[in-house]
Amino acid sequence: MARVDYTERIPNNVSLADNRRLLRALEEWQPRYLDWWREMGPDGFQARDVYLRTAVSVDAQGWAHFDWVKMPDYRWGIFLAEPEAGRTIAFGEHKGAPAWQDVPGEHRGTLRRLIVTQGDTEPASVEQQRHLGSTCPSLYDLRNLFQVNVEEGRHLWAMVYLLHAHFGRDGREEAEALLQRRSGDTDKPRILGAFNEKTPDWLSFFMFSFFTDRDGKYQLAALAESGFDPLSRTCRFMLTEEAHHMFVGETGISRVVQKTCELMREHRTDEVRRHGGIDLATIQRYLNFHYSVSLDLFGSEISTNAANFYTAGVKGRFEEAKKADDHVLREATYPVARPEDEAIRIVEEPALTALNERLRDDYIADCQRGVDRWNAVIKRHGIDAELRLPHRGFHRAIGNFAELRVSPDGRVVSQAEWDARRKDWLPTPEDQTFITSLMTPVVEPGRYAGWIAPPARGINGQPLEFEYVRLGSSGVGEGFAGRPGGTGAP
Ligand SMILES: [Fe+2]
Ligand SMILES: [Fe+2]
Repeated sequence: MARVDYTERIPNNVSLADNRRLLRALEEWQPRYLDWWREMGPDGFQARDVYLRTAVSVDAQGWAHFDWVKMPDYRWGIFLAEPEAGRTIAFGEHKGAPAWQDVPGEHRGTLRRLIVTQGDTEPASVEQQRHLGSTCPSLYDLRNLFQVNVEEGRHLWAMVYLLHAHFGRDGREEAEALLQRRSGDTDKPRILGAFNEKTPDWLSFFMFSFFTDRDGKYQLAALAESGFDPLSRTCRFMLTEEAHHMFVGETGISRVVQKTCELMREHRTDEVRRHGGIDLATIQRYLNFHYSVSLDLFGSEISTNAANFYTAGVKGRFEEAKKADDHVLREATYPVARPEDEAIRIVEEPALTALNERLRDDYIADCQRGVDRWNAVIKRHGIDAELRLPHRGFHRAIGNFAELRVSPDGRVVSQAEWDARRKDWLPTPEDQTFITSLMTPVVEPGRYAGWIAPPARGINGQPLEFEYVRLGSSGVGEGFAGRPGGTGAP
């Protein structure tokens, strides 16, 4: 694959220069995107040099280039994975037919809705995270936050390209609307619930990147199977970038856990708050919250929409090609958890309508692997404790469990028990006040806040004390609103 040409106003590998109409439409959208970025992107820091990676090709080897960039100058562009010669649709009623290069008329509405829903999450997360810069635990973390933010911006570009290129006037209107909605706004909220929640602090940010970005990974993986080839190719390249977001989340939590364990050992107590750490019980409550709202993003366990998407060939399963079955699923069943008379039972449901639950199962298994790695950190410190994913029915707002109260260990409980135990299971206002109290910025190169361990290594082979964001001679950027810097332990 040729490298992407950065002399173009919109870097791309889709021969945009040969399609004047599309190029013009995207060039009109671009300044409005930049307006949105300035208004709703990271608060402050826009004039600072950040050590960012930019995609320079879609080749899995060496696709990224690292350099100093001011965020508004980031080269947002349109990159699709290389086409697979002779690709056919792998599932559903069109199985075996050539993949579509254009939107089939009968699936136009469905595809548009899937693309808009995915596209909406990308700017939403940037909006949710826009105030975090002012409380960064280190320059390393600040840079990672901004890397995630600019790439979510690029993911918006990825979806907007599809809307402009393949959906005519409706697509252009949807592309505008993606810049109009705002996370958490009562009048014009983002489409999905978890993307209207606040990400007020860095513990929430790491949890979000681990749990909610991972929902993104599974949705993208299912869309990467799509019979609509441009969508498939777009999503395949987005997944390359997405991996870093989950790395930020997983290693972020891992470093928090490590610091907590060090403090527990040093002071021989579980109560590390008074030593400036985040106790495991609080970490568990944040985990419970972010995991449960992310599970909701997969939708209802039983969904005729999901069945229709699959049969139509527009959205497949995670790693569709690796599954050894008929890829049509008319006869197949799938086990689904369902509450029945105060108990939770597993019942076999038609596999087609249970596709959301199946994708959620793949997601849960992936989350568990991360939790196991966090628990290995705890164990390495000789501490007898464990973080756990709560039961899938816990704190759910969508699907079979939405009307029930389910404890983290999977019991259907009374409203009274829920009310009494809620403070043990979900973050409390006191937790939030405490976490907020820890959020003082640390901006000296090589220093880290007292509640989080340094990372194992720097970015792109750079040392930990590298100046990942250049804040200028004052050492404190305009995003800090006069708060002191450099308060953390080295
Ligand atoms: Fe994304
Ligand atoms: Fe992401």
